[in-house]
Amino acid sequence: MSSTSYQHPLPEVLIAGAGLGGLLMAILLDKIGIPYRILERASQVKALGAVMSLGPHIMPVFEQLGILDDLLKISIKCTSMNLLDESLKPMGSIKMDGQKDMTGYESVLFIRPELTQILLSKVPTSKILLNKQVVTIEDHPEEERVTVHCADGSSYQAALLIGADGTYSSVRQSLYKTLDEKGLLPKEDTKELEVGFACIVGTTGPMDPEKFPVLKDDYGHFDSIIGGVRHNWGACNINNNRFTWGMNLQFTTEAEAKKERFANAEWGPEASTAEMLKEFLDRPCPFSGAKMRDIVEATPPELISKVYHEHKLYETWYHGRTVLIGDACHKLLPASGMGATNAFQDVVVLANCLFDLEDASSKSITAAFQSYYSQRYEKARTAYNASLLMSKIMAGQTWSDRLIRTIFLNYLPHWVQQAELQKTAGYRPQIMFLPLAPTRGTVAPDPQPKCGRYVPPPLVAPS
Ligand SMILES: Cc1cc2nc3c(=O)[nH]c(=O)nc-3n(C[C@H](O)[C@H](O)[C@H](O)COP(=O)(O)OP(=O)(O)OC[C@H]3O[C@@H](n4cnc5c(N)ncnc54)[C@H](O)[C@@H]3O)c2cc1C
Ligand SMILES: *[C@@H]1O[C@H](CO)[C@@H](O)[C@H](O)[C@H]1NC(C)=O
Repeated sequence: MSSTSYQHPLPEVLIAGAGLGGLLMAILLDKIGIPYRILERASQVKALGAVMSLGPHIMPVFEQLGILDDLLKISIKCTSMNLLDESLKPMGSIKMDGQKDMTGYESVLFIRPELTQILLSKVPTSKILLNKQVVTIEDHPEEERVTVHCADGSSYQAALLIGADGTYSSVRQSLYKTLDEKGLLPKEDTKELEVGFACIVGTTGPMDPEKFPVLKDDYGHFDSIIGGVRHNWGACNINNNRFTWGMNLQFTTEAEAKKERFANAEWGPEASTAEMLKEFLDRPCPFSGAKMRDIVEATPPELISKVYHEHKLYETWYHGRTVLIGDACHKLLPASGMGATNAFQDVVVLANCLFDLEDASSKSITAAFQSYYSQRYEKARTAYNASLLMSKIMAGQTWSDRLIRTIFLNYLPHWVQQAELQKTAGYRPQIMFLPLAPTRGTVAPDPQPKCGRYVPPPLVAPS
């Protein structure tokens, strides 16, 4: 990398989607020296969304890139999630307090638009083409290129296409259509995303810490309330004296879910938001005897968004010169707070695999994609399974969900929860072609394939 004569064999890469995954991908391609452009559907990189979580499983990468401090500046640490019933009586907590000892890093909460800003500031504006909604893709293996067609009639070509275009990925849909016609798509991948729930999230402006004393704490009180038959909601204090909040409405029938899905496929302010909000406004807020109305009314309307949460783990992540990352290939439920982490882990592992490409032939590219898939699929599956379980515990309303919750909160001793954390603590993949972040904590990071072309810098004794 340091030698100026080296030129990476990939002439150009296209990234579909300037979400969190797409932006980190851009940053890593730039480090490798692979030219790229991003095609983003929106007219601007949107400041939408509310609370998200990142933790030890990705923070070493932020440290490698020199942006860990930026992340911590916008964050509040949070090592437990509390469940309450409708009368605010505690039902139990999910604790992650061993993380720092095991890994050297703690889980934090922050607001999506603020992380977007950090990543966006590292990507030259000229690299992001806005108003470019990818519609179809065509692979031309004999010419070693892929063509991307956009809704405005324009098209782009590249040696490789990375689909980072989220849950309803057009890259995935177009790729799968072609594969299905050729009889190459596994049956699982022909099925739709699975039923989830409707969700409204928001972040208040600064509020009065005298009225809400939890705002004075330097850690997050993540309180989630389970109420009624299909409602759950919650709030958490975050930086700058603000609250971030969310409300979920579960579907009882498939037909109801389908109707809702049709109306709310994407993130954004919606006409139906007000209607759903009404169902929650008079319910108790976990803090200072307030109602949810009090924090909703302190929220700027443009910071409220409604989304429909579905879930699915896809089997097919690549074909030809196209590869999927993030929500485009594994849409987790948000309860486990691992969606962004898994998207970023995809990016890191894919970048490691692309770094070592010897040439731009289909054979080499397929081998790189295969390696990416084999390093990531089982990990994503573990995270997907965990997100389903956490969703049952945090929000589930069926008889069996309640049973699982009761067992989890009341009969699983603290050390069992710790042992679970311990099992996954080693999975902290890093960028193998940059100086590694120092190993911290009692659990060593899992070994990773080395990047052959990279010569690590000599170790310097700390001064
Ligand atoms: C606006 C928004 C708000 C969100 N808010 C939250 C939140 O509050 N909490 C939470 O846990 N998760 C939230 N998420 C989801 C979270 O960002 C993802 O789960 C996770 O970060 C994985 O990121 P990703 O890069 O795979 O996908 P995303 O972050 O969803 O990014 C996908 C990007 O692709 C673009 N795109 C979509 N279709 C096309 C197309 N056809 N052509 C070109 N571009 C396209 C989208 O505009 C978006 O910029 C939000 C996602 C979005 C898009
Ligand atoms: C995930 O859950 C499925 C279905 O319950 C199970 O077959 C699979 O082994 C699990 N995989 C992992 C990695 O946890």
